[in-house]
Amino acid sequence: MIFNPTEENIQRAAEQIKHGNIVAFPTETVYGLGADCFNPIAVAKIFEAKQRPAFNPLIVHINSLTQLENIAEIHNDRILKLINSFWPGPLTVILPRKKSIPDIVTSGLDTVAIRMPRHKVALSLIHKAGVPIAAPSANMFGLLSPTTSAHVQNQLSGRVEFILDGGNAEIGLESTIVDFSGGSLKILRPGGLTIEEIEKVAGKAEVEKNINGKPNSPGQLQHHYAPSKPLFIIDDNAGEIIKGKKAGAIFLSGNNTGIKFHAEKILSPEGDLREAAANFFRHLHELENSNVEIIAAEKIEERGLGIAIMDRLNRAAAKFASG
Ligand code: TXA
Ligand code: MG
Repeated sequence: MIFNPTEENIQRAAEQIKHGNIVAFPTETVYGLGADCFNPIAVAKIFEAKQRPAFNPLIVHINSLTQLENIAEIHNDRILKLINSFWPGPLTVILPRKKSIPDIVTSGLDTVAIRMPRHKVALSLIHKAGVPIAAPSANMFGLLSPTTSAHVQNQLSGRVEFILDGGNAEIGLESTIVDFSGGSLKILRPGGLTIEEIEKVAGKAEVEKNINGKPNSPGQLQHHYAPSKPLFIIDDNAGEIIKGKKAGAIFLSGNNTGIKFHAEKILSPEGDLREAAANFFRHLHELENSNVEIIAAEKIEERGLGIAIMDRLNRAAAKFASG
């Protein structure tokens, strides 16, 4: 059930967390499905609800640096700079873990992924629960990430009892994941914080190109983030591909293809990448739930948030291409 984020309801959600249950909650990136990070049975309920393979580690959400100290070591000045600049916000850091974190959270890795979200409801929930909250995005494994409480309800109805509402996710793309463990700064997943912003503060970063290779972040399977309908990136063959089908299309600022689609979605009329990111999953959910049979997506220039958007689109298209 969806609950308004009143103080009272956030308190009730926090009680659920304390009692070892799972709760879906809003963040500024996407909605999360959370549990007490110190309670392995509670965390197992997340995997069960999402039908997520257990090898995929979770992000631990904190509301203070004191919580950080209880679960991880800060081993690097550049990480500290990033944390000071971008927390709370859409940045996840991979740090050496402390023993307090159960294996089920990290899938047995000796590192842990940590983020301080900036959504008021998320921060208040963590505060009231009194523990960091381990949470993946609140979608079924491999499907589209939710940016509204209704998206969560559609995918996880019957699997999670408590869904806290927090409006449309402000950023609309998952956090950017950075890792320093090899000695150099690596971006494991492009996301809501741009690489340019990160490099301004912490120097040169290397973007892991894993779309056609082995996943480095265990959850970065090639086919992640896919809608349940086939999706392809528009090229010269688009007309052929959609022939005889009801096709929906997603464009950055407008349809310049000369092809008429059954349904057309515009991410941002002005071509603003922030607005585009915020609308991205919502438009995909809408097309997925409409009567179109196939989804065509315009290629977006890979700069700023365009990198994260194309990362999600390439993964969705890879699923279609591989059947
Ligand atoms: O914006 C977000 O990050 C959202 C909200 C809810 O915070 N969460 C999210 O979680 O996207 P999830 O589980 O869908 O993605 C977490 C990613 C996965 O790709 C996982 O493999 C990676 O983080 N990850 C977690 N722990 C890791 C670790 N120790 N080393 C490398 N990658 C890790
Ligand atoms: Mg996810």
